Amino acid sequence: MSVVKINVLTVPADMRAELERRFSSRAGMVESADGFEWFELLRPVEGTEQYLVYTRWRSEEDFQKWQQSQAFQRGHAQAAAQAAQAAQGHGQGHGHGQGPAATGSEVWTFEVAESAGPKA
Ligand code: HEM
Repeated sequence: MSVVKINVLTVPADMRAELERRFSSRAGMVESADGFEWFELLRPVEGTEQYLVYTRWRSEEDFQKWQQSQAFQRGHAQAAAQAAQAAQGHGQGHGHGQGPAATGSEVWTFEVAESAGPKA
């Protein structure tokens, strides 16, 4: 049974373009992770201001392995570098290109109970 892991990002309005730019130049390594099934960056339109990073995995174990892998670290290299800079006081969350684009994040976990696609 597949598992869905959603990273919920709180992004200030003036950092949305920056966040999307970072994802458009993302490492693209998750595609090669064992058990990876799907990824989408979901931009909020109505009902919430939070961005959702939707990922689907063959199993919880596959997700955990990816999170502990170098691929995960490299996939978050930009975010990590900017967070370190901000921690050292060289940038604020709101500076463009400085500080993490997101001011908060939390992970939601779901099991896929039912699913469907269009009829062939
Ligand atoms: C501390 C929490 C996290 C923050 C603030 C964060 C933010 C980001 C950002 C800004 C990027 C764009 C690349 C970059 O800037 O380096 C990215 C990439 C990505 N994030 Fe996260 N992330 C976090 C944790 C997670 C978690 C737990 C997941 C899984 C649900 C996830 C899924 C992804 C995926 C799939 C990519 C694309 C990586 C690739 O192309 O290989 N992130 N994240």
